Amino acid sequence: MRVLGIETSCDETAVAVYDGDRGLLSHALHSQVALHAEYGGVVPELASRDHVRRIGPLIRSALKDAGLAIGDLDGIAYTAGPGLVGALMVGGAVAAGLAAAHDLRLVPVHHMEAHLLAPMLEPRRPEFPFLALLVSGGHTLLVDVEGIGRYQVLGESLDDAVGEAFDKVAKLLGLPYPGGPALAELAGHGRPGRFDFPRPMTDRPGLDFSFSGLKTAVLTALPKDPSPQDRADIARAFEDAVVETLTIKCTRALEQTGDSSLVVAGGVGANLRLRGALEQAGARNGVQVFFPRREFCTDNAAMVAYAGWARLAEGQRADGGIPVRARWPLSELKPVPVAA
Ligand code: KG4
Ligand code: ZN
Repeated sequence: MRVLGIETSCDETAVAVYDGDRGLLSHALHSQVALHAEYGGVVPELASRDHVRRIGPLIRSALKDAGLAIGDLDGIAYTAGPGLVGALMVGGAVAAGLAAAHDLRLVPVHHMEAHLLAPMLEPRRPEFPFLALLVSGGHTLLVDVEGIGRYQVLGESLDDAVGEAFDKVAKLLGLPYPGGPALAELAGHGRPGRFDFPRPMTDRPGLDFSFSGLKTAVLTALPKDPSPQDRADIARAFEDAVVETLTIKCTRALEQTGDSSLVVAGGVGANLRLRGALEQAGARNGVQVFFPRREFCTDNAAMVAYAGWARLAEGQRADGGIPVRARWPLSELKPVPVAA
């Protein structure tokens, strides 16, 4: 079975083709970073309009790279939420139109389900059950994953998502949007230990997170006229605080669930210091840690094509409409209803 995946939930337009026998056949992506940079963040209306401009050529190029015509496909998967509604509607409408015109099965995909299944695109794949740490611009979740659609959210952020905290602290440090990768780069020049920021909510039981206080701590520590070394040292201390907090909570969650595999996905999963710390913690505790390749941590359509394929492969029936949802708790997903 071959599935075309479409991702338009935020500021990346992406298309990919996944084949059940041959794996990922192609993936194409256009990032809108340059478009939104001057505004310091994503402008929803501009995002929707740019998706409209980019989606057609990307579909053609993904199909060409896969060596397929649209009629060779079995299904079209698209990100139906959570995300920016106008942006989601572009991918949803294009997917629904193509599916109707070419008699293909249409599969709405939950963006965070796609993120947590992204390691399945790698040669070394996790087996169910596993614990997933999902860290993106909009979400920070610890999820007990029993199978496709069998999710129990064990912990989440009570305020800012980790990626959002990276982006906001980056802004405080005068770094350009998108802040996460820029902050990580700056932290590489920082000296550990000069600043000491809190590890929020690690001193009490539970698996929830809170990152907004960390941003305030950075603001308080920041000198009026910071030198490049001040900024780098603060970036380093912030990154250390986030990484240690996430590592403590993952270790605690693994003890609670007894899972022997940990999946780390979402944009912040591209952070090298986080990857290193979680791998070390895994090695200490006999837990195998799985990551997508770094380019599939951030938004992409390969994960959407895979998630759509996995749902079709489990017997999910096609869905006729184009339901998109700005908010969509992962815990509302159900296991695949098998076709009658
Ligand atoms: O998953 P993603 O591409 O989009 C959402 O679904 O939100 O995640 C984007 C987030 C942004 O907040 C970005 O700053 C962060 O991931 N990010 C990083 C790194 N690369 C991306 N944060 C820290 N270190 C990185 N290397
Ligand atoms: Zn994402």
